[in-house]
Amino acid sequence: MADTLTITDNRTGRTYELPVEHNAIRAKDLRKITTGPEDTGLTSYDASFTNTASCVSRITYIDGDRGILRYRGYPIEQLAEKSSYLEVAYLLLNGELPTEEQYRSWAWDITHHTFVHENIKKLMDTFHHDAHPMGIFVSTVAALSTFYPEARNIADPQLRRNQVFRLIAKVPTIAAFSYRHSIGMPYVYPNNDLSYAGNLLHMMFRTTEEPYRPNQILERALDLLFILHADHEQNCSTNAMRGVGSSHVDPFSCVAAASAALWGPLHGGANEEVLKMLAEIGSVDRVPAFIRRVKAGEVRLMGFGHRIYKSYDPRARIIKDMAHQVFQVTRPSPLLEVALELERIALQEDYFISRKLYPNVDFYSGLIYQAMRFPTDMFPVLFAIPRTVGWLAQWDEMLSDPEQKIARPRQIYLGAEAREYAPRRAPAGSGK
Ligand code: CMC
Repeated sequence: MADTLTITDNRTGRTYELPVEHNAIRAKDLRKITTGPEDTGLTSYDASFTNTASCVSRITYIDGDRGILRYRGYPIEQLAEKSSYLEVAYLLLNGELPTEEQYRSWAWDITHHTFVHENIKKLMDTFHHDAHPMGIFVSTVAALSTFYPEARNIADPQLRRNQVFRLIAKVPTIAAFSYRHSIGMPYVYPNNDLSYAGNLLHMMFRTTEEPYRPNQILERALDLLFILHADHEQNCSTNAMRGVGSSHVDPFSCVAAASAALWGPLHGGANEEVLKMLAEIGSVDRVPAFIRRVKAGEVRLMGFGHRIYKSYDPRARIIKDMAHQVFQVTRPSPLLEVALELERIALQEDYFISRKLYPNVDFYSGLIYQAMRFPTDMFPVLFAIPRTVGWLAQWDEMLSDPEQKIARPRQIYLGAEAREYAPRRAPAGSGK
């Protein structure tokens, strides 16, 4: 049996044999299929990339039908149970778990790059008091490129590495500062004695000169949420990271672009939308009426559905289990009951079953963040912090891949045919 695909073009009667590798054909091979010398060849049309692989990757594997997620081959459930976020970050970037010595050096590098230039603070001060923290985050990450002009030299592996440390280390600081700015509280500088997640809690919530000691369960819960959000193969923001990075701009600009993509309500902004939705529903008895509105197409059930997962998102399952531990430390959320009832009813309804709509990572994460006292508008920022490592791993992989060039999709042009310029208003200066 040959690993090829035979295509007969019924327009010309000609037959073509295209190689099949990794269950894919190369879209470029379709260009051979022409109707004549004037024809530039067949293209594939795939609005929104629903069935197009844009790269070869060795980082994250998802089987959406079976609800499987693996980083570098390791099941997400095992990483969630046994690993820490910084270890997972190392794994995503380097392909292997670190040895003790590698981990120590890696954690040292991250911990010692957490400070930001004082001018960054001044820049953040200029935002309006009610600016959305994600807007501040996106802009400030972009501004970092002006502080590290050498970052433009993306061909130098050591310089590339330095920007990776900087970005992973500084995104929690920028995130916390954007929150402190929005509530008019003084910025809290990083504490190198704390873990990555513990330090974020410290910079967010420290209120007096007394040392801040994060609650260990909440610190672990945040670290776990970071592991679950670290990478998710070619999603919208990662595609933005690769697309923007393919022009060879510096990684700060790329991460700013990816963060902007993440902010949208259909992507990382969804957990913020879930909380708004749960608050609007308000109580368990109002759930059936809301489900009726979803089925009528009036609203979406936020936190449900996924382009890739057509079964339960494995991340949602881990988060749902963790929610109970977190609520033992914090006050139980009255909205958890609403969420559980929404899930219970939705999973029985044909509308959701037939469309394979299940809870995704955002359905329960917002409730946990809220219980930990993170305000709703910080949710996308909390997604951007860990996803920074996924973006960087994918960016680095793209730059090292000799097959990758500047991203430039084609289009099917259906606009006006060539036509002569014919003014439809009086020429400027004619007095009419
Ligand atoms: N509520 C109600 N109906 C839905 C939903 C939903 N959340 N999601 C999809 N559908 C319906 C949709 O109306 C369509 O129905 P029909 O075939 O009758 O027109 C069908 O399911 C397929 O939907 P789609 O919009 O074509 O699917 P997609 O793959 O383009 O969209 C999605 C994926 C995640 C954008 C979508 O499911 C959605 O909007 N979900 C709510 C937002 C959300 O929770 N986003 C977070 C995604 S997970 C975090 C991340 O990785 O970013």
